[in-house]
Amino acid sequence: MAIERLVEPTSAREDAEEERIEKSLRPLTFDEYIGQTHLKSNLKLAIDAVKKRGKGGVLDHVLLFGPPGLGKTTMAGVIAHELGASLRVTSGPAIERAGDLASILTNLKDGDVLFIDEIHRLKRAVEEILYSAMEDYKLDIVIGKGPAARSMRLDLPKFTVIGATTRTGSLAGPLRDRFGIIHRLEYYKEPEIEQIISRTSKILGTEIRPEALELLASRSRLTPRIANRLFRRVRDYADVNGDGIVDTVVAEKALDLMEIDYLGLDPADRNMLRLMWENYGDRPVGLSTIAALTGDETTTIEDFYEPYLLQMGLITRTPKGRMITEKGKKHLQKS
Ligand SMILES: Nc1ncnc2c1ncn2[C@@H]1O[C@H](COP(=O)(O)OP(=O)(O)O)[C@@H](O)[C@H]1O
Ligand SMILES: [Mg+2]
Repeated sequence: MAIERLVEPTSAREDAEEERIEKSLRPLTFDEYIGQTHLKSNLKLAIDAVKKRGKGGVLDHVLLFGPPGLGKTTMAGVIAHELGASLRVTSGPAIERAGDLASILTNLKDGDVLFIDEIHRLKRAVEEILYSAMEDYKLDIVIGKGPAARSMRLDLPKFTVIGATTRTGSLAGPLRDRFGIIHRLEYYKEPEIEQIISRTSKILGTEIRPEALELLASRSRLTPRIANRLFRRVRDYADVNGDGIVDTVVAEKALDLMEIDYLGLDPADRNMLRLMWENYGDRPVGLSTIAALTGDETTTIEDFYEPYLLQMGLITRTPKGRMITEKGKKHLQKS
């Protein structure tokens, strides 16, 4: 059975057009970045302090963590923009060897920001290079092999690492310790999601009625990326089947077509809940068993399905595994 996923790992997404639009919707400044007020005020303060210090000042390394689509990559861009710094973007899986990281580091300039997405997926040997680079702006390299090998220390420019990860648990302690600013991104409040959709509708030039805005926000899993995606699909529907304006009738029909229910769950979420209930009832079930049941990777379940289901109280996590809650069962009975 093919189940369309509303939330999918970015790496699995090949839609270049989708990427392009997502980029065009990314806020560039703190003012445009909606919500996450606590994070913003902390970062603003830190950035102001760096600016006040003037030449030679550099922002502490920043670690952002939280479920996908909440604005980690976007925030990295905002930080660089607000610092007036250049942003260099890479990711844990993209850096294959220590030498790759060394070449990235030696090409940085003072004050640059290096964004490392999925930083929990850095290879061990690469991570070790990063330690001294982050701590003392030094690069330790070994030249040659065998008895003739010698190690060298190179000076690096003063730069800032912004790391993003969906889970801090998978991050090695020594790496985490090197971040001066560690912050968790929270799910957004519904009115914030409304603001985000409203902003998107203006950028894309599509009118949306206030009731439709409320409806879409309530189905967006409190997640900006999903809000923007839903909005774009609903907009397509309005263009094809209506006069291009997004009202509640259009929104309802498009959401029904996508099988998104009133909590924002898609068929894949409901399938997982149902499998847990039918096979395990009130007993906890381990992550790998759930993965075997749904045919997903365990990491996909941990990163993409589970956080929102936990947030909504539809499942719980016990030391023995995951369990569907009464609320989860009621939700399935209703849908
Ligand atoms: N605070 C925000 N305000 C407005 N739009 C946002 C905000 N956070 C995220 N977005 C939108 O959601 C999309 C996904 O955000 P992204 O930064 O890629 O999430 P993450 O890196 O955490 O997975 C972006 O394209 C952006 O348009
Ligand atoms: Mg990202």
